[in-house]
Amino acid sequence: MIETKLLPITQESIDLAAEYLRKGTIFALPTETVYGIAASAYNGEAVKDIFRAKGRPQDNPLIVHIAKMDMLYDLTREVSEDALKLAKAFWPGPLTMILPRSEKVADEVCAGLDTVGIRWPSHPVAQKVILESGLPFAAPSANLSGSPSPTNAQDVYQDMNGRLALILDGGESDVGVESTVVSMVEDTPVILRPGYVTKEDLEGVLGKPVALSHAILEKLGEGETARSPGMKYKHYAPKAQITILQGSLEKFREYVSKFEGQPGIFCLCFEGEEASLPLPCVTYGQEGDGASQAHDLFRSLRHLDEEGAVKVYARGPKQDGVSMAVYNRLLRAAAFQVVEL
Ligand code: TXA
Ligand code: MG
Repeated sequence: MIETKLLPITQESIDLAAEYLRKGTIFALPTETVYGIAASAYNGEAVKDIFRAKGRPQDNPLIVHIAKMDMLYDLTREVSEDALKLAKAFWPGPLTMILPRSEKVADEVCAGLDTVGIRWPSHPVAQKVILESGLPFAAPSANLSGSPSPTNAQDVYQDMNGRLALILDGGESDVGVESTVVSMVEDTPVILRPGYVTKEDLEGVLGKPVALSHAILEKLGEGETARSPGMKYKHYAPKAQITILQGSLEKFREYVSKFEGQPGIFCLCFEGEEASLPLPCVTYGQEGDGASQAHDLFRSLRHLDEEGAVKVYARGPKQDGVSMAVYNRLLRAAAFQVVEL
């Protein structure tokens, strides 16, 4: 078993991470969305170690993180005008663009596809590690495959202790859900995974419609191929079984009150609602405020496990703006179990 060091952010720990990147040792680090596990995008053997550490299916490609425009051109064959507009508007930040890949990217990163996902993170630690090593890094979220993404270093440690050598502790992630993934391969951009950068944000900059993959809010059909391979796997799931109850707080209260006093049954609700609900509660942000919900969601799912929740009834978020990202993650955590009240 590997000994896992958990280090605060200092010049020394950043130097160590940059050295790991150059020599092909995987490690975890903070980004503004969630924590990631990094390896040089040019080092196929190191990238394989990421898949091993996470228990990740090999056909699910990784996102490459850059910190200057030269790196974008090194990793791709072609960058459209639309892609440049989005880069200018949203980088550094939580937006990943799918673009035609160059030969230089390790095959393991792209999992057999002819494209590569690229983003320029705004987190200063991620940027420093890239600039110091001179290497763009491939990084998935730093959870075991299938678990909620980690938004702090302790949650990474929980999943990855003994599986990698170093975790840089940069405190809590600001955004809390993973980047928006948009495919820029065809004329009409397609959102494959919603995030903090919304459809409206993208359309505002491009001045044209952006499509939403139907897999965002629906289960894939039998035998259907996923545009974004990650969407076909069970995701973000705590141990507890979750059911989303869509409707007013009043109807929610009425529905859950029949479980009063039963052990292991919890509510996942919005802040301020706990006092009026008859079950133990964990909260995730404020009603109608997608950003605060996104910030809390994954930590709250892990908190429910820590409390020993067996069955959870969740207040349903809206499905527009940033809330669409929250609903997309919660829906998968709930294995698509939704009750309309
Ligand atoms: O915010 C984030 O994006 C975080 C942080 C660490 O940057 N990373 C992250 O990576 O969420 P991961 O591996 O957990 O999710 C990557 C998603 C998957 O759904 C994957 O299928 C999709 O992006 N993806 C990556 N490359 C792709 C490609 N070439 N074509 C289509 N989808 C791709
Ligand atoms: Mg992930």
